[in-house]
Amino acid sequence: MTTIFRYSALYSTRLLSLPTCSTLAGSRGYSSVRDESTTGGSRPLSTSERRAMIERIIRVDHAGELGADRIYAGQLAVLSKTPIASVIKHMWEQEKEHLSTMERLVAKHRVEPTILSPLWTVAGFALGAGSALLGKESAMACTVAVEELIGNHYNR
Ligand SMILES: [Fe+2]
Repeated sequence: MTTIFRYSALYSTRLLSLPTCSTLAGSRGYSSVRDESTTGGSRPLSTSERRAMIERIIRVDHAGELGADRIYAGQLAVLSKTPIASVIKHMWEQEKEHLSTMERLVAKHRVEPTILSPLWTVAGFALGAGSALLGKESAMACTVAVEELIGNHYNR
């Protein structure tokens, strides 16, 4: 359980440090990204390339938070009457904040969310409910795996 909270706190901190487009790019390490694919050397990204990169970052991060939100919704739908429900509720509350932050960034930067959002919503809920139906250990294993993946993503 400690692992879950550690990763959650980690990427909560990352999300809250992303208030603007320019700091988003900087905090993700893209402020100094240079294109080495076409010139053989390196060059700074153009404004449009930088914009496209920031759009991709926000779109991917939004999809991840949407998926996490739906996973916990699915888990709690199955495990709401068990002792582990309070842990899932706590984790879900954090995911709701993350998703809210990403939705604000989507609106602020006028980013089109992924067209896979409806599928992502259903798949996330199914993953959460499915892992919970296998038992609380499976649900927690799913949670640890997802949190670790997301933690690694935000650390890149
Ligand atoms: Fe999250």
